[in-house]
Amino acid sequence: MKLFDVYPLLNITPAKAQGSWLWDENGKKYLDLYGGHAVISIGHSHPYYIKSLTDQLNKIGFYSNSVQNPLQEKLAERLGQISGYPDYQLFLCNSGAEANENALKLASFVTGRKKVIAFKKAFHGRTSGAVAATDNPKIVSPFNACHEIVFVTMNDEEAFSAVLDDTVAAVIIEGIQGVGGIQLPHDSFLRFLKRKCTVNGSLLILDEIQSGYGRTGKFFAHQYAGVQPSIITTAKGMGNGFPIGGLLIHPDFKPWSGMLGTTFGGNYLACVAGLAVIEVMEKEKLMENAAALGSYWLNEIGKISTIKEVRGKGLMIGFDLADDKKEVRTNLLFNHRIFTGEAKPNTIRLLPSLALTREEADIFLKALKQELE
Ligand SMILES: Cc1ncc(COP(=O)(O)O)c(C=O)c1O
Repeated sequence: MKLFDVYPLLNITPAKAQGSWLWDENGKKYLDLYGGHAVISIGHSHPYYIKSLTDQLNKIGFYSNSVQNPLQEKLAERLGQISGYPDYQLFLCNSGAEANENALKLASFVTGRKKVIAFKKAFHGRTSGAVAATDNPKIVSPFNACHEIVFVTMNDEEAFSAVLDDTVAAVIIEGIQGVGGIQLPHDSFLRFLKRKCTVNGSLLILDEIQSGYGRTGKFFAHQYAGVQPSIITTAKGMGNGFPIGGLLIHPDFKPWSGMLGTTFGGNYLACVAGLAVIEVMEKEKLMENAAALGSYWLNEIGKISTIKEVRGKGLMIGFDLADDKKEVRTNLLFNHRIFTGEAKPNTIRLLPSLALTREEADIFLKALKQELE
C-alpha cells in the first residue's frame, strides 16, 4: 500500500532528538525552532517525560472512558491551577481540530443556535466545523461548507457588530493567529468581543491550540487582555508530542451524560504526558523563559533593517521578509541546519521549545543576519 500523498515533505529523516536539537538518520544535527508545528513545549525527549510515560506503560496503557481514571482528575486539577482557571471543567480529546469541533458543538447545544463568527486568516483545524471556520477555501469541501460561518476582519469592531445577531452560537478566535502569520488580536478587541458575546448570549471560544500552554509567557495568550472566555481549546504543546487536546469549559455550562465523548480522549498515556508537561513547565520555569527569550528575540530581530515587520509574544514570533528574500527559510535549513516555520506568503514563524536557551537563540540570530546581509 502507498501513503495517501497529501504532505509536501522535506528530504530529511529525523532519527533522534534531545531538547531543541534533532539528528537525522545520517547523524546531521539540526536546531529545531519549529517544534513540529509548535508541539514540542518542554523539549524533545525530556528525561522526566520519558520516565513518566514509560512507568505508566508498564502499569496500564489503555482502557475506555467507562471506568474511573484518577489521572484525568489529577490533570484537570493541575491544569486548572497552572492556567488560572481552577473553576473551569475539562473535557479531554485527542487533537486541536477535535477540541474546536467539540467547542463549536457545545456552544450550539448551549445556545440552541447554529451560526458562528470566525476571523479572516483563521485556522482552526481540518474537521467538519473546524475547517469550515478556517479561512482557506482550498481545504473546505462542499460537505464542510454546509456550516453557517461568517468571516470578519480581525480587530474591526464595526464589521463584527454588523454580523452579530441572535442566531450566533459562538465567536471563535485564536489567542494569536498562527497559520495566518502570527497576527495578534488587540487586547481591546478581545475585551470588546467578550462584552458583545455576553450581551448577545453567544459563547466566546478562544482557540489557544498554538498560542497556549505558556508559549507567549502567560499560560494562554488571551490572558494579556484579561478576558475570561466561555470555552478555551488546547492541544499541541499540551502533550509535548503525545496526542492530547482539551476544552476548558466555563462553570456555567452543565454537562449531561453523553453530551460529548471519545474513545481515546483522556487515556492514561495522554494524561501522564500532560501531567509531565505541566510539572516540567513549573519546575523549570518555562513560561518565564519563554517571556524573556521572546522579548530578546523580538528586540534583536526588530533591529535587522531588511526585515519588514516582526510580531509576536514570548516564543511565538513571526517576521516578514522582503520579496527578494524568499529563500531565507530554505537557506536556514540547508546552510545552517535550523528548522523554522513559514506562513504564506513571506513570513517566517518561530515556535521553538519553551526550554530554548540564550545560546540557541543566538545561534539563530547569527545565521539570520548572515542570510540577510
Ligand atoms: C490555532 C490552531 N487551531 C487548531 C489547529 C488544529 O490542530 P490539529 O492539527 O491538532 O488538529 C491548529 C493546528 O495547526 C492551530 O494552529
